[in-house]
Amino acid sequence: MYANQIIAKEIVPKGVKAEVPVINEKGILAVAPFVPKALREITEGNRKEAGKMIALIECSSCHAFGKSGLRPMGALVERLGLKDADAVEAVLDALEGYPSMPPFLGTAAEKKALAAYLASLYQ
Ligand code: HEC
Repeated sequence: MYANQIIAKEIVPKGVKAEVPVINEKGILAVAPFVPKALREITEGNRKEAGKMIALIECSSCHAFGKSGLRPMGALVERLGLKDADAVEAVLDALEGYPSMPPFLGTAAEKKALAAYLASLYQ
C-alpha cells in the first residue's frame, strides 16, 4: 500500500485486490471515497477544483498545500519552474522514477486536471 492508502499490489492469500488498474481505468475521483458528487466527473467548470481534490487524495500524505509545512507543493512547483500544465504533466509522468513517491494514478483527464491545479500554485 502506498502512503496515500492506495493498494498497489494484490495479496492473494488475504483476498486483497490491487486498486491500481481500476483507478487507471475508472479514475481516482470515481473510485475514492469521500469525493463530493460534483467532483466525481471533470468538466470545464470544475477542472481546477477536481485537480485539487486529486492532489489532496494522492499527494497530501507527503506534501503540504499551504505556504509552509511538509514539502510544500507550491514551493516545489516554483523551484522547478512549473508555470504551465504541460510542464507539470511531464513531472507527473516522471513521479514513478522517484524512489520515495508513488506514481500518479488516474485517467488522462485527471492527470490534466491535477496538472492545471498544480500549475496554478506557481506565483
Ligand atoms: C510517500 C510520500 C509522497 C507522496 C504520496 C508524494 N510525494 Fe512528492 N515527494 C516526496 C518526497 C520524499 C520528495 C523529495 C524527493 C526527492 O527529492 O528525491 C518529493 C518530491 C516531489 C517533487 C519535487 C521533485 C524534484 O525533482 O525536486 C514534486 C514535484 C512532487 N514531489 C510532486 C508530487 C505529486 C504531484 C504527488 C501526488 C501525485 C506526490 N508528490 C506524492 C514524497 C511523496
